Amino acid sequence: MAAVAKPQRSPRPGPRVVAVSNQKGGEGKTTTAVNLAASVAAAEHRVLLIDMDPQANASSSVGFPRGTVERGTYELLVGSASLADVIRTTELAALDVVPASSDLAGAEIELAQCESPQTMLAQALAPLRSGALADRYELVLIDCPPSLGLLTVGALVAADSVLVPMQAKYFSLEGLGALQGTIAQVRAAYNPELAIEGILFCMYDPRTNLSQQVVREVRDHFSGLVYETMIPINVRLSESPSHGKPALLYDIESRGAQAYLELAREVLARMEQRA
Ligand SMILES: Nc1ncnc2c1ncn2[C@@H]1O[C@H](COP(=O)(O)OP(=O)(O)O)[C@@H](O)[C@H]1O
Ligand SMILES: [Mg+2]
Repeated sequence: MAAVAKPQRSPRPGPRVVAVSNQKGGEGKTTTAVNLAASVAAAEHRVLLIDMDPQANASSSVGFPRGTVERGTYELLVGSASLADVIRTTELAALDVVPASSDLAGAEIELAQCESPQTMLAQALAPLRSGALADRYELVLIDCPPSLGLLTVGALVAADSVLVPMQAKYFSLEGLGALQGTIAQVRAAYNPELAIEGILFCMYDPRTNLSQQVVREVRDHFSGLVYETMIPINVRLSESPSHGKPALLYDIESRGAQAYLELAREVLARMEQRA
């Protein structure tokens, strides 16, 4: 039997900060950040979802469509707004969001001119660890862009751990390898405690041999880190964002919504094990 990864104690006070990351696009990051955040909130744990992707899909998926956000992640990063200024409430009582404003699109280039762009998000999130917002959230989920640029690195520097959504496809394995390299670099330079929270298979179709083979390979390499829950392909998960809702508010009976509720139970159980 594969050894179970030793649960790592959260090294810092405050909420568990988890970056949802994979530099490959279309692997299920945003769908996972939004629906996991909503599912943990539905279990009455307070969650903050932070949209670090200039495409702002996570923001629109919880009711803040592109172009409607005046102050968000960009303003937080550059210090023109405080964390309290940019937090917005959502339809779910336990879920708040820091949406992406349109200025985030130019942030990657702009941040490169700053003195220490890698640590700007970590600094901006300090009030979650000590200060006015210290006891407000149990979990913070950061939706990362599909690249390994400064926005993603900033999220990895600010995070306790990385949750990696991936498809069970051959090229997704390459993406996982590249992310591992980035995690190693961030650990060495900025954040030695950065852990892998878990690896999640998204849009999973168990009928193909290849997908089963990919899952087996990833389980062999990352024993204990792959979630038992796998997210099936489900049309409700792709429809709900255009309604500005997480899947559980759009169709709670759908297989997609149910899979993310199951994932939330698994994520919360790992968090409790660690506490
Ligand atoms: N389990 C799923 N079933 C069906 N469609 C999905 C599922 N997960 C994601 N999608 C769709 O696939 C596309 C890419 O997913 P997304 O979460 O945006 O990926 P990423 O953020 O990694 O680029 C989106 O259109 C999304 O609605
Ligand atoms: Mg995305």
